[in-house]
Amino acid sequence: MQKQDIPLSWAAFQDVNRRRRAIRDFDGQLIPDEQVRALLSEATQAPSSGNLQPYRLHWIRDAGVRARIATACNGQRAASSAPTLVVIEASREIALDTAALQLNFIEGSNDMTERGKNYHRGQMRMFGRVLRLGSWPIWTPLVSIVGLFKPSLSLLPIGHLGSRAWAARNAAFAAQTLMLAASASGIDSCPMEGFSAPKIAQVLGLPRGTVIPVVIALGYRAPEARVDVKWRRPIADVIVEH
Ligand SMILES: Cc1cc2nc3c(=O)[nH]c(=O)nc-3n(C[C@H](O)[C@H](O)[C@H](O)COP(=O)(O)O)c2cc1C
Repeated sequence: MQKQDIPLSWAAFQDVNRRRRAIRDFDGQLIPDEQVRALLSEATQAPSSGNLQPYRLHWIRDAGVRARIATACNGQRAASSAPTLVVIEASREIALDTAALQLNFIEGSNDMTERGKNYHRGQMRMFGRVLRLGSWPIWTPLVSIVGLFKPSLSLLPIGHLGSRAWAARNAAFAAQTLMLAASASGIDSCPMEGFSAPKIAQVLGLPRGTVIPVVIALGYRAPEARVDVKWRRPIADVIVEH
């Protein structure tokens, strides 16, 4: 990228970032399929731990299914008025499948350098081991106890809860990328955590216990949509300089 392009991208980014608001009333206008597909595919560009992309993006296209998902979102207006809903599913199992796919890609790539391949092989081996060993049920009580002395353990994909938190954390990056991509296309969004995960899992045929970090409503804001005055903590409170 040329140096002189940077200010333009900055202005564009700020515009997109600030245009994104949690919108809870959509006007019913449909988003063209190819546009939704483009947004979802952009979301997959998000970073993830070990590039393991431990999520699936469920694009709810069927009107009947969408109505049932909206009900499972506790009837929130954002969900019931949105023409498009995306349910994010995350899991360690998806990460393990990705590791195998990624290894295939690495071995078959003519473009990667041997140095790059070695780095990524090492990463896949390490993550594969952690994800597999971390699934042993014994870790769940162990992490609860050892975590008292070493709390950072709770952020690793070790044990039942650690794996869920790790998968959800990774999926959040895709969720935010999706909302920024939407904003850049003039499409509004609302992230939602107010839903019944067991009900959504049932509607989509996902195993009970599936991690659903967030459901995202997409659409065009209704003229009467409430857009709250934006408030953020004072910068001096958030940014800590060392
Ligand atoms: C993880 C997460 C869960 C949220 N859940 C809901 C929700 O269930 N319903 C809702 O109306 N808004 C929800 N929001 C939106 C927040 O209320 C909103 O982002 C926040 O008030 C800041 O407003 P802004 O996004 O317009 O800047 C959620 C946001 C996040 C990040």
